[in-house]
Amino acid sequence: MRAGQQAIWLPLLVAAQSALAADFAGSGVLRAEREVTARSEKLLQRWNAATSQEVKQLGGRSASVVEVRAGSERFIVRQPKRVLNNDKEVRGLTQCLRVNRAQQILAAKLEEPAMVPAAVRATVPATSTNLSPLQPDLEVMVMQHAGKAKSANEAPYEWIRAVSEHQRLAAAVVDLFSEQRDRKMENILVRRDGRIRLIDPDKSFGQQQGAIYRSEFFAGGVLGYETTQATFANLPQPMRETIGAVAQSSLVALAETFGLLKPEAQRMRSHARRVRKIGLTAAIDEYVATLGPLHPPR
Ligand SMILES: Nc1ncnc2c1ncn2[C@@H]1O[C@H](COP(=O)(O)OP(=O)(O)OP(=O)(O)O)[C@@H](O)[C@H]1O
Ligand SMILES: [Mg+2]
Repeated sequence: MRAGQQAIWLPLLVAAQSALAADFAGSGVLRAEREVTARSEKLLQRWNAATSQEVKQLGGRSASVVEVRAGSERFIVRQPKRVLNNDKEVRGLTQCLRVNRAQQILAAKLEEPAMVPAAVRATVPATSTNLSPLQPDLEVMVMQHAGKAKSANEAPYEWIRAVSEHQRLAAAVVDLFSEQRDRKMENILVRRDGRIRLIDPDKSFGQQQGAIYRSEFFAGGVLGYETTQATFANLPQPMRETIGAVAQSSLVALAETFGLLKPEAQRMRSHARRVRKIGLTAAIDEYVATLGPLHPPR
């Protein structure tokens, strides 16, 4: 770029960046984003430093999922299945990481920073011979291990009862805003103390053909919130603040900060606006009514 061109573009670039920051200034969204970035970097460092590994196959249908042990450390390694539409990837590693990151930022801002496990794009070490079925140099999603947790469908009833209302509400907002279409009990991990982890973000923002699961965190679900959410005012104040920040941000800032594509950011913002206008329960019901066939509730 020539000096003259730079003189024109540089101030514009700076102005655009400060406009982005201004969109979320004071809302804590940028802090949540920085926390998530730091967490991801730490996870990647731990993965890159890990040696003497052992692999256990775990799943899966939408992804090939294994647990990797390295000394006292454990990682989840996922290889999401690629789905193409007109040569464009609509599901796969990139989409999965993108949605996980947006969910992490949202959860952090909703004061549930641990609810969505950290995840990063990483490669299987080129020298590894003992990581079968993971091939050396393969690009994968490395995810923080949830530790001593059980899938919600296998967890004792007391563990489910111990899941706080705050987590239920935050998870309902995360699932609505990211249009999570596979939030069955198997895709929720619960610990003895009632702390939950949301896993398996592959099917979101419309990327699901066939029957859809209504999120178990929506009212009436096994882990559904139990407070009355008839108006926006029924939500706790910090949640209202987060939803308000999303509802009034520009699409550019929203896409940029949460790492989403524009159409995804648009959907997220429109859900935030509906929640603000008609309350969480009515906004969820309105959204669920637009979905195709649903899996029957269990
Ligand atoms: N972060 C995690 N921590 C601990 N265990 C995990 C984590 N992520 C996934 N798992 C385990 O691996 C299993 C499969 O993972 P996931 O749900 O992401 O893939 P999937 O393709 O849906 O597989 P399946 O169709 O078999 O459910 C989960 O049911 C869970 O037991
Ligand atoms: Mg699953």
